[in-house]
Amino acid sequence: MLLSVENLSTDFPTKRGVVHAVENVSFTVGESEIVAIVGESGSGKSVMSLSIMGLLSDPGRVAAGTIDFMGADLATVSEREYRGLRGRDIAMIFQEPMTSLNPVYRVGDQIIEAIRAHERLSRKEALERAIELLDKVGIPCPQQRVRDYPHQMSGGMRQRVMIAMALACNPKLLIADEPTTALDVTIQAQILDLLRRLREQTGMAVLLITHDLGVVSETADRVVVMYCAQVVEEAPVRELFDRPLHPYTLGLLRSIPRLQDDDAKRLYMIRGTVPNPLEMPAGCHFSDRCDSCMEICRQRVPDLVEVDGHKVRCFLYEDSDGARKDDDGIAAGEARALADAETARQIAAADALLEAEDIRETEIEEHEGVKR
Ligand SMILES: Nc1ncnc2c1ncn2[C@@H]1O[C@H](COP(=O)(O)OP(=O)(O)OP(=O)(O)O)[C@@H](O)[C@H]1O
Ligand code: SF4
Ligand SMILES: [Mg+2]
Repeated sequence: MLLSVENLSTDFPTKRGVVHAVENVSFTVGESEIVAIVGESGSGKSVMSLSIMGLLSDPGRVAAGTIDFMGADLATVSEREYRGLRGRDIAMIFQEPMTSLNPVYRVGDQIIEAIRAHERLSRKEALERAIELLDKVGIPCPQQRVRDYPHQMSGGMRQRVMIAMALACNPKLLIADEPTTALDVTIQAQILDLLRRLREQTGMAVLLITHDLGVVSETADRVVVMYCAQVVEEAPVRELFDRPLHPYTLGLLRSIPRLQDDDAKRLYMIRGTVPNPLEMPAGCHFSDRCDSCMEICRQRVPDLVEVDGHKVRCFLYEDSDGARKDDDGIAAGEARALADAETARQIAAADALLEAEDIRETEIEEHEGVKR
């Protein structure tokens, strides 16, 4: 396994209390695999990535767990060892491209610097590599664009430069934190296509951080769903879309607008809001928003258990003594039945609303007809 994160917890001690930004998170990334981490804003995706990269800002600290990357535990390596790994074996595209590109240096010089931090190349050789990299990430006329400053480039171009910089030393793992969020749909598709192509060409693995399930379905091999600092479900991508188990995943998938939904009124929204990290409900973090909530859900946090090839953190799949429910998929069946019943209820409610409106419109038309 290339990367194996186990029981990782990252805290931010603040004046108002300790924010548990990442709580007991475990997942793996294999060689050449694209694993997506998906979750709402504030679920801990960026803090988790920065913990892996050893780039947490004060007062953040890894409180527990191990981060095994190619045999080294990143949670314990020195800053010097980290500097040797970062950029060379493991690279990251940050959520804010402009904060990572220095506005006063030409993009070519920044890529050259990234190359020469790890490889003994002359400036001329590094410049040639920088031009090659810009070409590889689809920047037209790379010989000229290498002399541009970041502000002379569009958002999509800057994102490509960020990818070129991250690829400078052929990393084994690329962590891409929301690499397409600020881009329009066409450029977004091009960047995702580029990541897939680079994986094919170089064998690089990608940890793709996003809140966009559309991006996940098109790009990833496996998906890890995070909610309020915890992993709540993990499964191969098709499995997750075809048979989501956790009520939060079900809610996320139902919130995606689909072309066949001809009326926006049918768009589903998970009720309630994400809790304040300092006022997390006791027990399951999703309990205040979950339609399937039971008594035990308010008493203790469910474990992540393996069910039908998924990993899922929910008492619908776990007995009260912590053992996973029996193998015949009773729990999965129950969850699906609950979910199907809830979907049917919502569609019926939306239909009733539409029907009531139709009747009212007909009444108004008839009334106006009478008046005329
Ligand atoms: N410096 C900090 N001090 C205190 N809390 C912090 C700090 N940085 C992050 N957090 C908290 O950590 C939690 C996780 O934040 P994170 O940025 O990882 O979320 P995210 O999933 O990346 O969200 P987004 O989709 O908006 O990028 C949030 O509750 C956030 O408030
Ligand atoms: S543990 Fe309970 S509250 Fe949490 S998601 Fe499962 S059913 Fe809902
Ligand atoms: Mg983030």
